[in-house]
Amino acid sequence: MWNKNKLTEKLGISYPIIQAGMAGGITTPELVAAVSNAGGLGTLGAGYLNAEQTRESILKIKQLTDKPFAVNLFTPETPEVRDTEVAQANEWLLPCREALNISEVPKVKEYSTAAFEQQIQVIIEEQVPICSFTFGIPSQETLQQLKENHIVLMGTATTVTEAKANEASGMDMIVMQGSEAGGHRGTFLGSFEDAMIGTMALIPQAADQVNIPLIAAGGISDGRGVLAALVLGAQGVQIGTAFLTSLESGANEQHKQAVLNSKEDQLTVTSAFSGKPARGIQNDFITKMKEYEMHLPPYPIQNTLTQPIRREAGKQSQAKWMSLWSGQNPRSCKQLPAGELIAEMVTQIDQISL
Ligand SMILES: Cc1cc2nc3c(=O)[nH]c(=O)nc-3n(C[C@H](O)[C@H](O)[C@H](O)COP(=O)(O)O)c2cc1C
Repeated sequence: MWNKNKLTEKLGISYPIIQAGMAGGITTPELVAAVSNAGGLGTLGAGYLNAEQTRESILKIKQLTDKPFAVNLFTPETPEVRDTEVAQANEWLLPCREALNISEVPKVKEYSTAAFEQQIQVIIEEQVPICSFTFGIPSQETLQQLKENHIVLMGTATTVTEAKANEASGMDMIVMQGSEAGGHRGTFLGSFEDAMIGTMALIPQAADQVNIPLIAAGGISDGRGVLAALVLGAQGVQIGTAFLTSLESGANEQHKQAVLNSKEDQLTVTSAFSGKPARGIQNDFITKMKEYEMHLPPYPIQNTLTQPIRREAGKQSQAKWMSLWSGQNPRSCKQLPAGELIAEMVTQIDQISL
């Protein structure tokens, strides 16, 4: 049976299909629960939530499903804030703020790991069964604490070297994020440019080098992609964009429509929104910021600076200023209930396997 392996056993799920944690309100408790109830693994994207909001969402998910689910966190980054760099970025962002009538210039404070540590405590207290990470590997102390509480750990890697680092850290499984993937790159060792490896090349090379289960991510949106990933050596898939357009997703309607109407050649990778490369649909914001991209402050400073722009663009339904994250396979996306998407994938795989 294609759907039974070490990964599904460890996660306690029927199908090796994981809905990606997508921070920023996309992964509503309804979406997470719908995926888990359909036999996949729903994930709450908690990267931008504080501890209290994380707990609230977890409690709602528990009301909607008794199946396993995951919470995804951002391994914290605490770059030094340089005032001149911030002032320069604010000057470049001014035309975008003016176009949206925003007078607020966000304050950039020193970043700390406190909020992340509080989220870890919530995850332990609420006995969340699975915790996944992107943007690096948390401290051994944090991983140990989670392990002692029997929480399954899932890391993210974009190269074989990063996969080995995840395995050495004690992660139970690794999401291998190919260059097709929508949203932020999880790269944390070496340069982002060098780590743009397509899923088809990344999975078999990683499968030959690490012993823990691998999860393929990037451009997978139907049964064909799931089966291909399994053939390449992954034991599961993580899907973002195809769940972003699902009915239960909390993505802004403009964002959903942009994905549903875009083609594979309309996507690009930009650091302009957050200071960290991410894949999304080309729009005016990306075009206007292109010339400054190399000189912008790093993540999460630039993310803080653009937050009012992204929020106001959403409120005013102005897609040209929004971060329209999407993977390279937008044509296959549909506006269906998440459970139906999973059922369709399963049917398609069963037909291919026949
Ligand atoms: C809108 C969006 C937001 C995302 N946010 C996160 C996140 O918060 N945490 C994370 O680990 N990955 C995030 N990702 C990346 C996914 O984990 C995954 O690598 C990617 O969606 C796979 O490619 P696909 O979008 O083509 O399915 C996001 C992806 C998208 C499209």
